[in-house]
Amino acid sequence: MIETHPDPDSALCRVWSRLSASAGTKRWVAGIPRSLDGLIAMNEPPADLESSVRDRFAALACDPAAEKQFPVGPSSAKRLGYCADDIDALSTAATESFAGVGNPLALGNLRVGEIVLDLGCGAGMDSILAARRVGPSGKVIGVDMVEAMLAKARTNAEAEGVVNTEFRTGRADALPLPAGSVNVVITNGVFNLCADKPRVATEMFRVLRPGGRLQLADVLLEPHVTPEELEGKGAWSD
Ligand SMILES: C[S@@+](CC[C@H](N)C(=O)[O-])C[C@H]1O[C@@H](n2cnc3c(N)ncnc32)[C@H](O)[C@@H]1O
Repeated sequence: MIETHPDPDSALCRVWSRLSASAGTKRWVAGIPRSLDGLIAMNEPPADLESSVRDRFAALACDPAAEKQFPVGPSSAKRLGYCADDIDALSTAATESFAGVGNPLALGNLRVGEIVLDLGCGAGMDSILAARRVGPSGKVIGVDMVEAMLAKARTNAEAEGVVNTEFRTGRADALPLPAGSVNVVITNGVFNLCADKPRVATEMFRVLRPGGRLQLADVLLEPHVTPEELEGKGAWSD
């Protein structure tokens, strides 16, 4: 978890220094920077990265069983450390399109009454779990750029009886929220998919209130991973 500072420049400096702890080269490999040094100075991402990501996640919303390359769904959530009882209590529709890479809710405690942004909310699993933690006096705003995911998130929240969520269409690099409007940003496996990472980080800090928190779960490549090993793994933008 990263706590923000009222001075956005200082906050960003702290993020960079925390996230850049693992040194490495600065080249893009299928949309993922080779290390988070790449956040500051990175080569051009593939031109079709965004459209590939859109297509891939629209497909995951509609037909999660077709995803064979990466772990998704309730079993993946449990492996990543979500409470099995919480996952089992949700409907299949609420968990089957889960594509997170970690558990941002485990990075800090959400408090009753807080306003939370779930950036790249997908089908809404994290949003629903977060909404239950902040309670009716709080709210979770899920943002995603894929309409099929948002439609599923709305249906899932309603089916789960969660009324303190709202799902908005938007891009991570141009968030549809006013400055200083949320207490916490949670995000799960989204940052690595974004071409302009400095812009996305700037947006996250713009919408956070002073003293707000960022609970970010994501992937980064460590320097020892070879291009050949990576080639075999593929990417969400494939
Ligand atoms: C790995 S999934 C994670 C979804 C959800 N957080 C979860 O844990 O299941 C990534 C999500 O981020 C969305 N996404 C990717 N890039 C985005 C961007 N630049 N702006 C907004 N949403 C984005 C995708 O549509 C997808 O729903």
